[in-house]
Amino acid sequence: MTDFPVVESVPALRARLKDFRNKGEKIALVPTMGALHDGHLSLVQEARRHAERVVVTIFVNPAQFGPSEDFAKYPRTLPSDLEKLASVQADLCFAPTMEAVYPPGFSTRVEVDGPARADLEDRFRPTHFCGVATVVAKLLNQAQADVAVFGEKDYQQLLVIQRLARDLDIATEILGAPTLREADGLAMSSRNVYLSKAERAAAPALYAALNEAARLIGAGEAIEATLARASAALGEAGFLPDYIEARHAKTLARIAGRRDGPIRLLAAARLGATRLIDNLAVTHEA
Ligand code: PAJ
Repeated sequence: MTDFPVVESVPALRARLKDFRNKGEKIALVPTMGALHDGHLSLVQEARRHAERVVVTIFVNPAQFGPSEDFAKYPRTLPSDLEKLASVQADLCFAPTMEAVYPPGFSTRVEVDGPARADLEDRFRPTHFCGVATVVAKLLNQAQADVAVFGEKDYQQLLVIQRLARDLDIATEILGAPTLREADGLAMSSRNVYLSKAERAAAPALYAALNEAARLIGAGEAIEATLARASAALGEAGFLPDYIEARHAKTLARIAGRRDGPIRLLAAARLGATRLIDNLAVTHEA
């Protein structure tokens, strides 16, 4: 066991943050659902570049899971999470109880439009971004940090949260950080532990398909035909694709051609019982 500092209530969080602020220290927030991996830890390192103090939140938020999703079996690994936070010199963990986040009588939801209704993740997880926006609005208000760091891994989520902060005049600056990958290209994810050995071996095909499509589209190949081939390649690798699409990188608006860019490719696909998502920028070749 480590003695890494953890607080479980909003008053306890605020008391610790007040100590930091009284010393003139900037605060960065890194919200997570725990089961921490190196991708999460890279967000802590990015956060450290913007603030003297880094606070990591760990809360498995039931409101963002659909009825048939994995809330009950989502990995919960607090002791090893705290060891990892100590190893990257984070300063504090906020692991609120269910009652601290959703007290009895809780009756407010944050409804999100714009990037939250882009017909990507929201098509397959219709209540997801309302659940994310509600909990993130709460976490941002609870901590009132100077900056908060979110991963590009969940690209649509990052845009939803940036829009949320702007629309609600939340003073915390929302920063994105690049996706950390395994050596074979698979984006790190807490859900990768669900993959069987055979599925784990097939999983890098998602990044490979995105990478190849980004290269071809960047070189001027037709977008729709390239994405259709990428989708077929995913199918051959054993995935059932939910979507693989090219969208405007800032708004997620549909695009007709390369010149409507900057372009982001976004994909979600099921491999057995596990659903993986990934995304990649298209960089134009000269
Ligand atoms: P979670 O899936 O735990 O992810 C926490 C943060 O880590 C998110 O910002 C996510 O984009 C980022 N992340 C995940 N995998 C990453 C990788 N391979 N490289 C870099 N960053 C990565 O996203 C959530 O939790 C929740 O929706 C949350 C925002 C905490 C609200 O409940």
